[in-house]
Amino acid sequence: MTRITVAGASGLVGSNIVREALKRGYHVSGTLRDAEDTGKTRWLMALPGAPERLTLFSADSRDSHSFDAAMAGSDAVFIACFPPLYRAADGTPARELDRQRGYEEIVRPVRDGCLNVLAAAERAGIGSVMLCSSTSSTNPPVPLAIKTEATALSDAEHQMAQGKFTAAEKIVMETAAQDFCVAHNLRLCIFLPTMMLGPVVMPQHLEGGSHRFLVAPIRDGRAVHDTVPEGSISVSHVGDVAALFLNAYERPEARGRYFAVYESLDWADLYAEFARQAPGAEMPPATERSAEPPTQFDFTRRDALGVTMRDIPTTIAETARWLKSQPFG
Ligand SMILES: NC(=O)c1ccc[n+]([C@@H]2O[C@H](COP(=O)([O-])OP(=O)(O)OC[C@H]3O[C@@H](n4cnc5c(N)ncnc54)[C@H](OP(=O)(O)O)[C@@H]3O)[C@@H](O)[C@H]2O)c1
Repeated sequence: MTRITVAGASGLVGSNIVREALKRGYHVSGTLRDAEDTGKTRWLMALPGAPERLTLFSADSRDSHSFDAAMAGSDAVFIACFPPLYRAADGTPARELDRQRGYEEIVRPVRDGCLNVLAAAERAGIGSVMLCSSTSSTNPPVPLAIKTEATALSDAEHQMAQGKFTAAEKIVMETAAQDFCVAHNLRLCIFLPTMMLGPVVMPQHLEGGSHRFLVAPIRDGRAVHDTVPEGSISVSHVGDVAALFLNAYERPEARGRYFAVYESLDWADLYAEFARQAPGAEMPPATERSAEPPTQFDFTRRDALGVTMRDIPTTIAETARWLKSQPFG
């Protein structure tokens, strides 16, 4: 049976790719920085099929050769090991850095780390690369009426000039990955999620950026925000995102960028959905809807991958039901 490698198997996205791949019968080599960390590995090894078909390896993106063992014998690598860097090594927030430090300490480590993982894949003779990026790479200087994967390209210099090094990371990583994969004849698919909800594999993921917006009202009775943020945001079920990765891998004709989101919602509407699932929780006061309509997407390419996508209200309701079932005791 086919083996795949998941770089970042202990992450929110990576662990859901592992879960979906095991469900589909694959053998999986997963990486995290410390494969002896039982606080993480025990949750992965508890997934159905894991004892028979999941092997975990220690690997760090700063060292290309640390991925060699995990890549051996794999047909594809799924890369989900570049969470956004919000601070420089000395703790300075990314937004406060100048151009040189922002590039060297936030953008470049992700670009170089991704190239290290790709070099290991190339050495191992892997043919397909499934890369997790983010919709922060889809914001050109002049906003688009409707975003397509081909036209919604951030401009790294424009983002860095605004101090948005954490966002620029993604388009720089994608460009470097594309150049590498063209030069080495690897098939590359890139996935573009925003906020993700849905059942998680380990309790640590509930503390992360995505889930805390819903966990806080349900568990703590209060929202993360004091005021409803401006504008709109998209959400997706992390299980749908994992299915997009696997479906793209299983369709040899698939290549290039794919949105991994649903239609965007105004934050005020999103909070109304949260409030429906957490009655009695203290929520930020209701605000007017934004003057700007929510971001519009053309989902032709996403839908060609054949995943039946949920929508935001369904995802929030399912996640809330799962959270209330006390899945981790
Ligand atoms: N979470 C979201 O809502 C969201 C939204 C949009 C886009 N994304 C994108 O999705 C991708 C995955 O994010 P995530 O939320 O799944 O991240 P995550 O939960 O923080 O997981 C990150 C994974 O990468 C590994 N990792 C971290 N630093 C590493 C390093 N130096 N070398 C090797 N592995 C390393 C972690 O392993 P350890 O166990 O060693 O820490 C973990 O397996 C990222 O590209 C992110 O931008 C996420």
